[in-house]
Amino acid sequence: MNCPRHGGNLVWAATLAGCPPESILDFSASINPLGPPETAIAAIQAHLKTLTHYPDPSYQSLCQVLSEVHRLPLDWFIPGNGSAELLTWACRDLAQCAWTGILTPAFADYARALQSFDAQVRPYPINLVEQFSGNTLSLAKVLATAELTSIKVSQAPSLLLNHPHNPTGQLLALKQVESCLEQFSLVVVDEAFIDFLPPGDQQSMIPWVMEHPNLVVLRSLTKFYSLPGLRLGYAVGHPERLARWRQWRDPWCVNSLAVAAGIAALQDHSFSATDLGLADLCSHSALSRNR
Ligand SMILES: Cc1ncc(COP(=O)(O)O)c(C=O)c1O
Repeated sequence: MNCPRHGGNLVWAATLAGCPPESILDFSASINPLGPPETAIAAIQAHLKTLTHYPDPSYQSLCQVLSEVHRLPLDWFIPGNGSAELLTWACRDLAQCAWTGILTPAFADYARALQSFDAQVRPYPINLVEQFSGNTLSLAKVLATAELTSIKVSQAPSLLLNHPHNPTGQLLALKQVESCLEQFSLVVVDEAFIDFLPPGDQQSMIPWVMEHPNLVVLRSLTKFYSLPGLRLGYAVGHPERLARWRQWRDPWCVNSLAVAAGIAALQDHSFSATDLGLADLCSHSALSRNR
């Protein structure tokens, strides 16, 4: 049996272990062990009757909430069937650049999405011994070999970054990302795990998108909101870019229940303020295992 490229494959793990999928405690996909917000589950239950209609293909109601949460105009958002779907469209754009730099090791789906569009990929290995200490990953050090000064504009490269980075958990130094925005024609930043940081520490790059049309930020409701089976994420970027992505994809990628749950989750401020200190996470995991 082939080992899957991504964690969270309970059917594969259960077949291998010879047990039912429900008896597996899964640490492979880094999902919030405290479970989803109750408000999101209640919203799913309350919206079951909407299944008899197609969702609104422009996802106005969800974009309205995203616009309020991030204080940006509505058309700077596009919801997706998980951030993985939006990563695919981001990689279609990245593949138009001379090459795309990724810090490795990285989330395996980056390679899948980049290869789908024959992108030229340049891996920049993180020195795990030198760089895995401290909270911040030195992008400048990792990219030191990129010889950016000799790059001609016609060969403008791109970057696909993860902030905080999976698997090191480190944040990128914001100043360094800012200087990358001057040198790279497109910078895609995957912030799938950023909600795990307390709101004051989040250092999201979303507030920069209006100043930098070459920046796209991807967000996921999978990890912190513990909703991997729902499939909901969103991208924040220049409206012209997002309009192009809309032309490429299926008109109803996000289902009605995901829209309802997403709106409830994003408006659940007491859930987003939950203190998820590492100590809590560890003790909760230990408790679940002993149950
Ligand atoms: C860094 C990173 N980005 C994105 C994803 C995919 O998230 P989603 O469930 O929103 O597609 C994952 C899933 O493991 C991930 O590790």
